[in-house]
Amino acid sequence: MKTVMGTVLITEEEIRRRIGEIGRQISKDYAGGAVTLVGILKGSFIFLADVIRAISPEIPVEVDFMAVSSYGDATKTSGTVHIEKDLGISIEGKDVIIVEDIVDSGLTLFHVYNILSARGPRSLHVAALLEKPGNSKYEGTLDYVGFKIPNKFVVGFGLDYAQRYRNLPDIRVLDEI
Ligand code: IMP
Ligand code: MG
Repeated sequence: MKTVMGTVLITEEEIRRRIGEIGRQISKDYAGGAVTLVGILKGSFIFLADVIRAISPEIPVEVDFMAVSSYGDATKTSGTVHIEKDLGISIEGKDVIIVEDIVDSGLTLFHVYNILSARGPRSLHVAALLEKPGNSKYEGTLDYVGFKIPNKFVVGFGLDYAQRYRNLPDIRVLDEI
């Protein structure tokens, strides 16, 4: 389907169904315990809002957000991130899931994972709505992945191009950017 807003790659219905599955899986994995979701701003806010409501109400769920900006050259192996907004809660001793919109090079996740890991959570896992093929900078496991997508720039469902298109209800590839 072609529109002025781009070509739909993943429909609303597909996203809804997949997030339901992820919510059920998290509910099984954390049954009898509690979970703290850490959303990485801004792109993850819509995914997180849907995932949190797909988790069983019997599981106590905490949520907080962190904003980071990437510095340096993503083609380098190191790079770094700057914490623009830090968590307001302690994650020490907690079972934490990092919630990301998309893992591309994996550099952001690599740094966020290390920062949060150093704070002594009891466990630290990762949920990402989208995964691109070249995420070599993060060598850990993506525990919950919505969709693997081709190496194309996508927008919608929280993801932006120059701060636009986050409100699209589906995931689209822009025709011309
Ligand atoms: P990484 O550090 O290369 O994995 O990039 C992660 C961040 O880059 C994501 O959290 C997004 O904010 C942004 N990003 C990467 N690919 C896309 C895309 O296709 N559309 C929108 N944002 C993207
Ligand atoms: Mg992001």
